[in-house]
Amino acid sequence: MSFIANHKKLERNLGWLFVFSLVAVLIGGIVEIVPLFYLKNTIEKVEGMRPYTPLELAGRNVYIREGCYVCHSQMIRPFRDEVERYGHYSLAAESMYDHPFQWGSKRTGPDLARVGGRYSDDWHVQHMIDPQSVVPDSIMPGYSFLANAELDPADIGAHLKANRMVGVPYTDEMIENAEVDMIAQADPDADTGDLEERYDKVNIRYFDGDATRLTEMDAIVAYMQMLGTLVDFEAFNADDPDNQR
Ligand code: HEC
Repeated sequence: MSFIANHKKLERNLGWLFVFSLVAVLIGGIVEIVPLFYLKNTIEKVEGMRPYTPLELAGRNVYIREGCYVCHSQMIRPFRDEVERYGHYSLAAESMYDHPFQWGSKRTGPDLARVGGRYSDDWHVQHMIDPQSVVPDSIMPGYSFLANAELDPADIGAHLKANRMVGVPYTDEMIENAEVDMIAQADPDADTGDLEERYDKVNIRYFDGDATRLTEMDAIVAYMQMLGTLVDFEAFNADDPDNQR
């Protein structure tokens, strides 16, 4: 009897079909799952990752609230076209403090994983207020109200605490100082205290260009300007055995 005829028999016998399907799924499962037990780690060792500053975290909250992720991803895939356009492909370590992560699967606009430092603060503010004024063909909606929405620092400590509960290594000191750190980051003329000691590579500027008040625009620009800038790629070696899959 030919193979096809045997297969026909199998397909018409519910018991055998069930048994053979189970065997096929088991083999597939083993092939996929067993290698995972032999991984050294799933998150690469990198230099430079730190938790978000209070102001950056507030900006991230605005990003999520406004649904920016509906049009923007934050994950550069390891393909040549992406790496040439956006920079080094994203590492797992770069989103280890993201709760929830913002990888996304839909790109109406460009990936934002490495947008930090690519444009000036002024460009971002103008682009947020009226995207078409800087990119005439843009279909991005404007978010001008962010420039007038005052940012209340009172509850940011609670946000840090909540992140700590899910594993972000915020220290007691960071949580206690969340409010002053948030104000200090957007006010370079004030005494910024130990902000720079608590958070490496922190940008301290009037992000929205307005020295008189702290707004959601300060927060979103601070967040955009740090995206993808933390990891030291000079020190990162994908061939290091500890970074091998
Ligand atoms: C309806 C889809 C849509 C939404 C929602 C959206 N964007 Fe965009 N965004 C785009 C498109 C399209 C572009 C490319 C054209 C441009 O630069 O305006 C873009 C560009 C950008 C850029 C420039 C990126 C680059 O590399 O040039 C930034 C930064 C940005 N968006 C931030 C945001 C933020 C922050 C939000 C939420 C407050 C947001 N976007 C919401 C569609 C969107």
